[in-house]
Amino acid sequence: MKLIITKDYEEMSKKAYNEFSQIVNHIKEPKIGFATGSTPIGFYNEIVKSYQTKGVSYENLKAYNLDEYIGLSRNNEHRYNYFLNHHIFNRINIKKENIDIILDNDNPIIEECERYSNILLKNPLDVQILGIGANGHVGFNEPGTKPNSKTRVVELNEVTIKDNSRLFSKIEEVPKHAITVGITDILNAKNIILLASGKNKSEAVKNMINGDISELCPASYLQKHDNVTVIIDQEAASLL
Ligand code: GLP
Repeated sequence: MKLIITKDYEEMSKKAYNEFSQIVNHIKEPKIGFATGSTPIGFYNEIVKSYQTKGVSYENLKAYNLDEYIGLSRNNEHRYNYFLNHHIFNRINIKKENIDIILDNDNPIIEECERYSNILLKNPLDVQILGIGANGHVGFNEPGTKPNSKTRVVELNEVTIKDNSRLFSKIEEVPKHAITVGITDILNAKNIILLASGKNKSEAVKNMINGDISELCPASYLQKHDNVTVIIDQEAASLL
């Protein structure tokens, strides 16, 4: 794992853009897996800035994502397609037909899981962007996830429901189930960029980097991948 520790969130976001652009600039039709959550928003703003102020084109970029809640209506603003449209896709020149977000269609859920896993396994992503949950989850691969897991329906962990409830008006509104791409799908990407910011991520970051590879911290499976760049601020790095 390549580890970059930055002084704060802003520097983390800028470094993430540097790493990302170094890989993507050399690829004609880059395939990118976008994460949701608060952490990558600053990085996405850097991508938008590169388009708006430097004229970097994202016309040929193909976009995928990591996960989606189950049970929210198509136009609910907590859906991850809404998040990604709002923070990035509507602000760059990506073509709508190049965006393939989990469950942004009427497919039955089981078919959708199979469809998505097949895409990720047959056409490896050039970059998978990841955040990390305070309990060590990546995507919605909660503690207990097996290394050979693929895209599937999962039950959300209590810690995750509590953490994510800050974005809903009350905790009861947080869905209990989601679709997530699996560890196998994530590890099939050619490059992985993981971001973390803040003290509440420091334990998970420590377990991911220095802990045993274990289902107790699904992010620790990333130790098996050859091209992972972990970009974290000082607070997230405070237990290393
Ligand atoms: C969510 C998402 C993850 C994300 C994580 C951290 O539950 N499913 O993909 O990485 O939590 O989110 P945040 O960046 O808001 O802390």
